[in-house]
Amino acid sequence: MPPSYQRPQFRTLGQATAEDMTEIFGHYHGLRSGIADHAIMLLKLLAGERLGFPVDRLEHSLQTATLAQQAGADEETMVCALLHDIGDNIAPDNHGAFAAEILRPWVSEENYWVVRNHNDFVGRHYFEKIGRDPDMREKHRGHPAFQKACTFCDEWDAAAFDPAFETPPLEYFEPMVRRIFSGAPWTRAGKAVGGH
Ligand SMILES: [Fe+2]
Ligand SMILES: [Fe+2]
Repeated sequence: MPPSYQRPQFRTLGQATAEDMTEIFGHYHGLRSGIADHAIMLLKLLAGERLGFPVDRLEHSLQTATLAQQAGADEETMVCALLHDIGDNIAPDNHGAFAAEILRPWVSEENYWVVRNHNDFVGRHYFEKIGRDPDMREKHRGHPAFQKACTFCDEWDAAAFDPAFETPPLEYFEPMVRRIFSGAPWTRAGKAVGGH
């Protein structure tokens, strides 16, 4: 804690002064500089968690991003591919929404939507085997990002379980992650400026 810091006097938010809130939001905005580190930390937590798959969740993430890269995807889309499952450990039942909301201020509406709904699309490849509707994606047909979600899930996500597939290490992708979470949030194409 810096020596100049003084604990504010308010005890309820309604008592906070404008100066208090300016101070708080200065700190709050400062948290943005740590988002990339935290996202990378969540990715590292996926290492070793194979969950019955042929590769662990980190390898799956690296393979998904590498397949996106090999297909000529732009950097933002590659980072979305890398991070699409970072919620596996903490939000396994809604991990798409978890990752999508972390990415939302920093990526296009299209990429947000693809990550948000990726499970409905990748289900084409296995839902039938667990008694669920493999055509779950059909409820989204007509959405502007529908085709991108098909590519993301059919050609990258669902194809990223090969133990023999060599990918670059996570360190290779880290500068890309840092670039996506840099600059001002809520300013990417198709976004209204907003948020905190
Ligand atoms: Fe997923
Ligand atoms: Fe995945």
